[in-house]
Amino acid sequence: MAIKLSSPSYGELEIQAATRVLQSQVTSMGYETYMFEQELKQFFGRKDLNVLVVNSCTAALQLALQGIGIKPDDEVLLPSLTYIATFQAVSALGAVPIPCDVDDECFIDIDDAKSRITSKTKAIIPVLYAGIENNINAVYKLAKRCDLHVVEDAAHSFGSKNTILRDGILCFSFDPIKNLSCTSGGAIVTSNTDLAHKIQDLRLLGVIGDTERRINGERSWDFDVKEQGWRYHMGNLCAAIGRAQLSRMKFISNIRRSVASRYVNELNGLNYIRLLPINYETAIPHIFPIIVNEGLRNDLMQYLLSRGIGCGIQYKPNHLLTYFDRGYSLPNTEKLYSQLLSIPLHPMLSNDDVTIVIDTIKEWAVNV
Ligand SMILES: Cc1ncc(COP(=O)(O)O)c(C=O)c1O
Repeated sequence: MAIKLSSPSYGELEIQAATRVLQSQVTSMGYETYMFEQELKQFFGRKDLNVLVVNSCTAALQLALQGIGIKPDDEVLLPSLTYIATFQAVSALGAVPIPCDVDDECFIDIDDAKSRITSKTKAIIPVLYAGIENNINAVYKLAKRCDLHVVEDAAHSFGSKNTILRDGILCFSFDPIKNLSCTSGGAIVTSNTDLAHKIQDLRLLGVIGDTERRINGERSWDFDVKEQGWRYHMGNLCAAIGRAQLSRMKFISNIRRSVASRYVNELNGLNYIRLLPINYETAIPHIFPIIVNEGLRNDLMQYLLSRGIGCGIQYKPNHLLTYFDRGYSLPNTEKLYSQLLSIPLHPMLSNDDVTIVIDTIKEWAVNV
C-alpha cells in the first residue's frame, strides 16, 4: 500500500534505547520498567496516580478486572463495537462479556447497557473508541446507581487530557500503532493504591512483592503466591522504547492532530460521509473512522484501496463472532459496522499523503 492505514514512528531515540538495553544484557523487568512508570506518572501530571505497565492492554484489562474482584460467571457490560481484545480480557477470567449497542458516536448506549443489567452484572467497560468520551459521565452515573465497577478501555486515548482527569481505572495500549508504542505494551492507571498493589503482584505470576526485587536487579528465590497470577509484566526492552516514545510525544501528537484537523476541515460536510464528534483540542486522535452513507462504504473502500490508500473497518462487532454471540442483535452497532471506514492516520504521513487521501475521497464523492 502506498499510503498505509497505520504505522508506528520509531526513530533514532528508540533505536538508541533498544541498543542500550540489549548491550546491558538485562532485557527483563527492571530499571527501565520502573523509570517508564515514573515518567508516565510525570506525563499525566497527577502525583496521586499509580501507573503499572504490562505487556499489553489486553493484559491490563484482564488484570484490572481481576483486581476489582471479577470472578467466573460474573457479567461485564461492554460495547460490541470494540476490538476483540476487550471481550477476550473478560472471558479470560471465566466472566461473561455482555455485548451492548452503541450510540451514533460509537460510544456504549447507556439505555441498552442498563436494560442488560442482571443480578450477575458486576462491571461496565466503556471503550473510548477513537478517543470519544462525550457521554462518559453517564457511564459513571449508571455504575454508581447500580453498584457496578467501571474499567475504562482507553486503548485509543493515550495522551487525552480529559481521560486522565477522571478518577477511574484506565487501561492504555502501547501496541505498535497506538499513540505511544513500545512494540507491545499497556498500562493500568488508578488512584486506588490497594488495587495497584494487588495488580503489581498479579502481573508477576502472583509472586508477592516481586516488583521491588526486580527493580533492584534481584530475583525471588523464596516467595509466596496467594492467587492466580499471570506473566504479564513489561521488560526493560519495551519500557526503554516506551520512554523514548514518551519523550517524543509532543512531536507525535502534533502530527496526529494536524492530520486529523485537515481531515475535519476538508471532509466535513462532504456528500455521503459523516464525521464523528471528536474534540482534538483535548484528545490525540488514534484512528480516523468516517461514516459512509448506507450501501456505499464498500464502494469507497475499494476506490481507496485500488489507488494505494490503506483503509479498514474498525471493528467487526463481537456479538457477530461465534464465541461471543448471545443470540440477540444490536441494531445501531450492525448499521455502523456496515458504514464505518477508517482512513490513514499515523505520524509517518506527509502533508502530500494527506492531500492525496482527501482529494481521492472528494473525487469519489463527485463520481459516485
Ligand atoms: C479498543 C481496544 N481495546 C484493547 C486493545 C488491546 O490492546 P493491546 O493490543 O495492547 O492488547 C486494542 C488494540 O488494538 C483496542 O483497539
